[in-house]
Amino acid sequence: MEIIICEDVTAGASLCSEIIMKQIKKKKNSVLGLATGATMVPLYKNLTKIYKDKKINFSKVKTFNLDEYFGLDGSEKESFRKFMYDSLFKKTNIKEQNINLLNGKTSNWKKECNDYEHKIKRAGGIDIQILGIGTNGHIAFNEPGSSINSKTRLVKLTSQTIRDNKKYFKNKKMPEYALSMGIKTILSSKKVILLAFGENKSKIIKKFLESKPTKNIPATFLKSHDDLTVILDKKAAKLIT
Ligand code: GLP
Repeated sequence: MEIIICEDVTAGASLCSEIIMKQIKKKKNSVLGLATGATMVPLYKNLTKIYKDKKINFSKVKTFNLDEYFGLDGSEKESFRKFMYDSLFKKTNIKEQNINLLNGKTSNWKKECNDYEHKIKRAGGIDIQILGIGTNGHIAFNEPGSSINSKTRLVKLTSQTIRDNKKYFKNKKMPEYALSMGIKTILSSKKVILLAFGENKSKIIKKFLESKPTKNIPATFLKSHDDLTVILDKKAAKLIT
């Protein structure tokens, strides 16, 4: 595990973009695992800038997003699908046919999740999986108690996660369930980059680094991955330096 502490969010986002850019230069049809949330806003801004500066070409890149709220689709502004199109897909030349997101409005979540796992396999697996971390140590929506062997599935959101994300649901009830890649799915990526910025992540980062792999803090399972890079800003790293 490599831990890199950057001066600020901008530096952290730019470093992560550099790693992604190098991967795409090495392999034009790289498969990127993408995340959502406030942590990803500066990253996608930076990737969009690099694309506009013609330093990166996404035309052959395939993407797979980690999760989606159960019951939402891209027509709703609170959905992760909408966030992704607005933050990255509409601003770069990622091709529609190469974009993969879980369908939160599926009538058959088991089939949706199994199909997703097969799509990832058919794509040759994920080259770089970008992750944020929830304040309770979740990755994607793998909440405390999630098994290291979990695959893409329907998950129940904890009250902490609902509290943390309620701010995005001003005019509608926040879903209590989501479809999420599992921990085993995430760990099968060739490389994993965990991003955490801001003082509100300093406690969970300290716990993550000090704890042995435990399902109580699902992010700790990432420590068993042989190519994990943790990128922090100084605020998220304040309790470990
Ligand atoms: C949500 C997402 C995660 C994300 C986490 C942190 O739960 N499912 O993928 O990492 O929130 O979000 P933020 O970056 O807004 O703190």
